[in-house]
Amino acid sequence: MTGQGHTGEQTMTAAPAAAPAQAPGEDALIVIEDLHKHFGGFRAVDGASLTIRRGSITGLIGPNGAGKSTLFNVVAGLYKPTSGRVFMDGEEITGLPPHALFRKGLLRTFQIAHEFSSMTVRENLMVVPPDQSGETLWNTWFHRGRIAREEAAIAEKAQEVMEFLTIDHLADEKAGNLSGGQKKLLELGRTMMTDAKIVFLDEVGAGVNRTLLRTIGDAIIRLNKERGYTFCVIEHDLDFIARLCDPVIVMAEGKVLAEGSIEEIRADERVIEAYLGTGMKHRKKTATASAEAGQ
Ligand SMILES: Nc1ncnc2c1ncn2[C@@H]1O[C@H](COP(=O)(O)OP(=O)(O)O)[C@@H](O)[C@H]1O
Ligand SMILES: [Mg+2]
Repeated sequence: MTGQGHTGEQTMTAAPAAAPAQAPGEDALIVIEDLHKHFGGFRAVDGASLTIRRGSITGLIGPNGAGKSTLFNVVAGLYKPTSGRVFMDGEEITGLPPHALFRKGLLRTFQIAHEFSSMTVRENLMVVPPDQSGETLWNTWFHRGRIAREEAAIAEKAQEVMEFLTIDHLADEKAGNLSGGQKKLLELGRTMMTDAKIVFLDEVGAGVNRTLLRTIGDAIIRLNKERGYTFCVIEHDLDFIARLCDPVIVMAEGKVLAEGSIEEIRADERVIEAYLGTGMKHRKKTATASAEAGQ
């Protein structure tokens, strides 16, 4: 494997298209340094280094088995890394458990767990633990009045979130009855019940129809623009990536292969080669063709 992430960065991100108005040096929200995750002798993540810029919607793409989901799982605290470090806002967060990361505003969406499928959409939103409010048994016993007010505020927030995501007509529907795309919107909605700083989305588009995928994309863009959420998005649908993401980071064989705008990535021989090796050539061509047709 040639070409590490930093090499790609130097050559491909000289002029980021839409850099936020930030003081220099303050724009790195997540920094991943030489991350390894090995399963036995198998190097699923094999020395990946990358930075997620504050305010960006960063795309993470690469052939199947490249190590994208494993990298997410390490960053989100589900797996301990074999080695390497992860920083958020300059503070080391390597190996912190998911609930600690959640409190810091780092969220990874998951499929709605089985036990939540019999709850309504509204209930699924209302049970998301509030961040930083310190909801302890102590509070529950001694501040009943305040708890009632907090519940009213949570209900109001849930309503707002459903309207934002255009799923308010489904408020009293059981989550288990939603379509795949509607479930994805609900997962996104759950991240909105707290004040997330960064949300990791692993294949939100899988099995979702075009219309709903567009709604999901719209919601991500709005959350990014209006609430300042940073996103890191793994997605196979390169049209979706092209519409949302800058920059796009390409992983292959556990490492970062390239980083740049979607146009730069499409033109990168190393990326084309990595995809060719796994029969993804046609997908790339399709995405390029539709982008050229003006989408
Ligand atoms: N828990 C695990 N145990 C063993 N191997 C794993 C485990 N999780 C992932 N892998 C392997 O690591 C590689 C990377 O997987 P993954 O991170 O899911 O790739 P991607 O999301 O890029 O398709 C794959 O070869 C996969 O089989
Ligand atoms: Mg994956």
